[in-house]
Amino acid sequence: MMEKTIDNRRFGPWALITGASSGIGKEFARQIAASGINLLLVARREDVLREVGAKLTGDFGIGHRVLALDLTEDNFIRKLAPAADDLDIGLVVSNAGTAQPGEFLAKKRDELLGLLRLNTLAHLEIAHYFCPRLSARKSGGLLFVGAMRSEIGIPYMANEAASKAYVQSFAQALHFELKPLGVHVTVLPPGPTETPVLAKFGLSLETMPMKPMKVEQCVAEGLQALYLNRSLMIPGRLNRIMNAVVPAFVVRRLTASTFKKTLANNLVKPQSPKESR
Ligand SMILES: NC(=O)c1ccc[n+]([C@@H]2O[C@H](COP(=O)([O-])OP(=O)(O)OC[C@H]3O[C@@H](n4cnc5c(N)ncnc54)[C@H](OP(=O)(O)O)[C@@H]3O)[C@@H](O)[C@H]2O)c1
Repeated sequence: MMEKTIDNRRFGPWALITGASSGIGKEFARQIAASGINLLLVARREDVLREVGAKLTGDFGIGHRVLALDLTEDNFIRKLAPAADDLDIGLVVSNAGTAQPGEFLAKKRDELLGLLRLNTLAHLEIAHYFCPRLSARKSGGLLFVGAMRSEIGIPYMANEAASKAYVQSFAQALHFELKPLGVHVTVLPPGPTETPVLAKFGLSLETMPMKPMKVEQCVAEGLQALYLNRSLMIPGRLNRIMNAVVPAFVVRRLTASTFKKTLANNLVKPQSPKESR
């Protein structure tokens, strides 16, 4: 697929990308920069964001700004607004998210709540802040990153999947409401994708039931879907077929057995229920 997939007149001159220091967000930054759109890059690791921004400015001649921000912080918008308010932002990619597979019984309360804040409330806050601005300019778009099959409930990722189901439902509703106002809204729920997160899970090509997709393709399909104003785009043809034909109980069983093996090999360290209190 061609990479220069986003129209910089509709979605420029600036884009905000959360989770731009790694994986899918970093690739969004690269492809959006290649379309000639300036970038406001957000994540917690400022040094990494600076490297990403400098490289993209060097490669594509775009402007960039970085903001080190923890999106689990209460009212983080107070810090984001001063960095964004003087920019004409036409594209918001709400991508930052995380997961830590493990038994629910072994999870600590703080860990569960932190994940829920990042995977749900952060998207809500960002949408609440930027939707009125995008609607006022009557162009632009919001792209949310969810996760494939989250809505069916995924064992050993109970909180993760439930939080991603929120993103998917939320984005599809916004798509409908913002369409008449000239604002595109798309949710991109990737299946397993080649990013640093897979190693963090302890997953490898040998332990995974299917080959993860390339991050470049995942992002290119997301940008194309946003351009066409599709409410939802599962990236990857094979993922779309699997999504349509594989029953939910089979997916749950398969994921459960993969994570059980991974947890048993201590590749993802389970917390003991005692530790979690
Ligand atoms: N890769 C997959 O297989 C896959 C599958 C389904 C869904 N997804 C979704 O795709 C999105 C991107 O994931 P990825 O695979 O690219 O993972 P990744 O490589 O781990 O990147 C996650 C990004 O989120 C940022 N981030 C994490 N916690 C944050 C916080 N509290 N505040 C601000 N930024 C934070 C990280 O930056 P810092 O560490 O610098 O803060 C990083 O830039 C996530 O929403 C994920 O759930 C991925």
